[in-house]
Amino acid sequence: MSDSTPETEPYFRVCGLETRLGKRTIFDRLDLDIHNGESVVIMGRSGEGKSVLLQHLLGLMKPNGGDIYIKGANITSYSEEELRPLRKKMGIMFQDGALFDFLTVAENVSFPLSEAGVSDEEELNEKARQALEMVGLAEHMNVLPMNLSGGMRKRVALARATVGHPDCILCDEPTAGLDPVAAGDINELIREMVDAYRATSVVVTHDISSMNQIADRVVMLMDGKIIFSGSPKEIHESENVDVRDFLAGRTR
Ligand SMILES: Nc1ncnc2c1ncn2[C@@H]1O[C@H](COP(=O)(O)OP(=O)(O)OP(=O)(O)O)[C@@H](O)[C@H]1O
Ligand SMILES: [Mg+2]
Repeated sequence: MSDSTPETEPYFRVCGLETRLGKRTIFDRLDLDIHNGESVVIMGRSGEGKSVLLQHLLGLMKPNGGDIYIKGANITSYSEEELRPLRKKMGIMFQDGALFDFLTVAENVSFPLSEAGVSDEEELNEKARQALEMVGLAEHMNVLPMNLSGGMRKRVALARATVGHPDCILCDEPTAGLDPVAAGDINELIREMVDAYRATSVVVTHDISSMNQIADRVVMLMDGKIIFSGSPKEIHESENVDVRDFLAGRTR
């Protein structure tokens, strides 16, 4: 891969990914490019490897075969230290991404910045306030997370993921456990953040209204492979039996 055309380089390139966990093959020579500024939603049934794929993109899990590139650099065998500068540019909202109960909302949100070495209290507080303002929670910055509803905690987690103005946002099931209105709010915020920071985004969800709201492109995983890649409109028109079953909530 050439370094001479960085602007055309995809943000993520997954090449021939093979992953085996225990006796199970999770990925079987999977290929996927995620372009700069693209908003990709990863769908698939529980256990298909959506969270594992995010871990590969972050270099948290090493594959059995194949390569992962970030902005043209092959990170497959990068050390934690080599990965750190790349991860600094990414905002991450993990599945069940818990907040620290013993830190205030503002301290939770500024945590990635203090991890990255920012130590000025005023600066941390101001950055947290700005990020919380974007999710409509600035007035709650001094409370503890246990005093917030589930939907509010998700918004705090989103503020934490975006506090460092990332060029890429990765979210794993950002609306799990939320009512449709709270879920719609989170989806709208994710879309706003992506647009505000011109970020690349990768969102894992099995929520179809999230997909419709967030995705430029939907990628559906099944049996270790991508069985669909296209726009939300195209997935609804797909004649692939597995895609149709998934969208209709049917099992075979
Ligand atoms: N660290 C690990 N060690 C062994 N097996 C694992 C590990 N992490 C995940 N798995 C297995 O890999 C498979 C895919 O897991 P993954 O969490 O990616 O599924 P998922 O698509 O995110 O599902 P869900 O929608 O329920 O979150 C599962 O069978 C899981 O048990
Ligand atoms: Mg998962």
